[in-house]
Amino acid sequence: MQIHTTIASFRAARPTMGRLAFVPTMGNLHDGHIALVTQAASQANTVAASIFVNRLQFGAGEDFDRYPRTFREDCQRLESAGVAHLFAPDETVMYPTPQTYHVEPAANHVNILEGAFRSGHFGGVATVVLKLFNIVQPDVALFGKKDYQQLMVIRNMVEELAMPVDVVAGETVRAADGLALSSRNGYLTAEERAEAPRLHRLLAKIRGAVHAGERDFLKLETQAMADLAAHGWKPDYIALRRRSDLQHPQAGQDLVVLAAARLGSTRLIDNLEI
Ligand code: PAF
Repeated sequence: MQIHTTIASFRAARPTMGRLAFVPTMGNLHDGHIALVTQAASQANTVAASIFVNRLQFGAGEDFDRYPRTFREDCQRLESAGVAHLFAPDETVMYPTPQTYHVEPAANHVNILEGAFRSGHFGGVATVVLKLFNIVQPDVALFGKKDYQQLMVIRNMVEELAMPVDVVAGETVRAADGLALSSRNGYLTAEERAEAPRLHRLLAKIRGAVHAGERDFLKLETQAMADLAAHGWKPDYIALRRRSDLQHPQAGQDLVVLAAARLGSTRLIDNLEI
């Protein structure tokens, strides 16, 4: 695996790569990232990944400073999974001057759900993804469905700005007890880790109720939030939405249920398509 720490180095190698699939990450890789790399290998002859902890997508008081940096282990995992090129810039490469240009996603996409609790987050994601795409010039880019709203924002940006990249979604990878894999799971204490699968269980319960014909979505959301609160969580939202744009659904539309809640000092998100 070739490691490129500068834009010039990646650009010089790009013509040798042929059709390229790209998996952007912030490192601290888990099996969910590796599944994306495996999926990427089925889409192109070369797979590239990036590792960059993007300050722009962290709000004040969020975990930018304590976000785990595990570069050596990450490189080993990426190389064994078949990544041929890794772009691993530092901040002086990605953001050499204060960012004066910023992608501002559509308000109705970012003022809801995650965006309502993490002001500026999706603008930071879209800005770094646009810049990574400009550097890496992938034919295909893969993003996990665990960050469902992020996937929607990126799809929307790519479509509206006519960026020549196919965005492909990867399924959420879960631990045996249902907890969605996340770099932030490492913050959980043993006791919190045992409690954490409740989030997925509640989403699965909502999915079961909707399949069984329940249409009082507010009741389902409120009950699940109360269950979390009764078990020591601080829920931000549990919301049944239509998949296409995460707005409130109308009858007959494809649904997804999304959740975010804090357990101790860790904020977990998850979702299930229905
Ligand atoms: O999903 C992530 O890890 C990040 O949001 C991404 C897409 C790599 C942008 O920093």
